[in-house]
Amino acid sequence: MVAQAAQPSSTFSGLRPLRVSHDMVGVANLIAQAFDEDMDGSGRAAVDPTRAGPLNPESSKEPMSSPRHIIESQQFDREFMATLFERASQLAEIGRTNDLTGYTLASLFYEPSTRTRFSFEAAMHRLGGNVITTENAREFSSFAKGESLEDTIRILSGYVDLIVMRHYEIGSAKRAAAVALVPILNAGDGAGQHPTQALLDMFTLQQKFARLDGLKVAMVGDLLYGRTVRSLAYLLSKYKDVQLTFVAPRVCQMHEDIKAYLDRNGAPWRDEDDLNAVLPRVDCVYMTRIQKERFLDRREYEQANNMYRLTPENVALMQRDAIVMHPLPRVNEIDPAVDADPRAAYFEQARNGLWVRMAVIQYVLNVWG
Ligand code: CP
Repeated sequence: MVAQAAQPSSTFSGLRPLRVSHDMVGVANLIAQAFDEDMDGSGRAAVDPTRAGPLNPESSKEPMSSPRHIIESQQFDREFMATLFERASQLAEIGRTNDLTGYTLASLFYEPSTRTRFSFEAAMHRLGGNVITTENAREFSSFAKGESLEDTIRILSGYVDLIVMRHYEIGSAKRAAAVALVPILNAGDGAGQHPTQALLDMFTLQQKFARLDGLKVAMVGDLLYGRTVRSLAYLLSKYKDVQLTFVAPRVCQMHEDIKAYLDRNGAPWRDEDDLNAVLPRVDCVYMTRIQKERFLDRREYEQANNMYRLTPENVALMQRDAIVMHPLPRVNEIDPAVDADPRAAYFEQARNGLWVRMAVIQYVLNVWG
């Protein structure tokens, strides 16, 4: 079984949980405040839990001195991603292993999920491990009786070898990691980050273009509350000559913390209003859903919803070898008629989550088959 740390990492100690007071300020300000609190001011991750060097099969037998958490995209570098994607490709070829016989994953989800929870659980089964789960932790864990996140994580740390957690609060994964004795995998922390989604997005881009440098990517839709685009922007900025275009309704534009990070890393970006003008110029259009559940003002949601849609007519404006991605679920931002277009890559993207998450689980458990 995996070696476990005697003490939680102290590098998380400066983090403050988001205090939500919806009646005092608008939700966008709350989100902005949380983003700002979540950074250490440098644009780097406030924690750096996986900087244990690139994935290296040679080091797979080394005992782990502290859990390898997956908290936010800033913690990954190109070398890590190259090795992870090679491993994910191998896993896609072999389909399953028995590397993790006797290991147990807990999936702890305080928000709904189809892809992330099922693909993590399927990944663990395909690696030969076991899964215990609560898919609605707000109702079916002792959260409902008032138990703190920290106490829940302390308890689960004694039962399992890794914890995949989705929570509604920005910064919750860091709070969990501060007390966990086993790896925490952030499966989405409110409007904060979704780092394993970003890894599978990058893997999909690499599969489609055989490169990650020089890509032109348009991110479209809810860029304020969408955690996937935030995590993906961090990763794309690590590659040469990547250009990002943000197409979002006024009420859900990409937050300044990401734009400042891109500036510091020399990754050009711009805001655009006209989706049809952007479509012919990019390699990838990354669509996102307007996240109705995160809006407090119904009028703002209605203003944003339906503003940007892909249909067969405007997909025809894209280059022939460009692709359409979406983290899913979609609501109405991609017409189902687009699914038959060879540029539609979103179902393949979701499938890639299985291989990438198998590789991620192997990495955090320091087990290479
Ligand atoms: N992409 C994604 O996170 O989907 P789910 O919400 O279904 O997990």
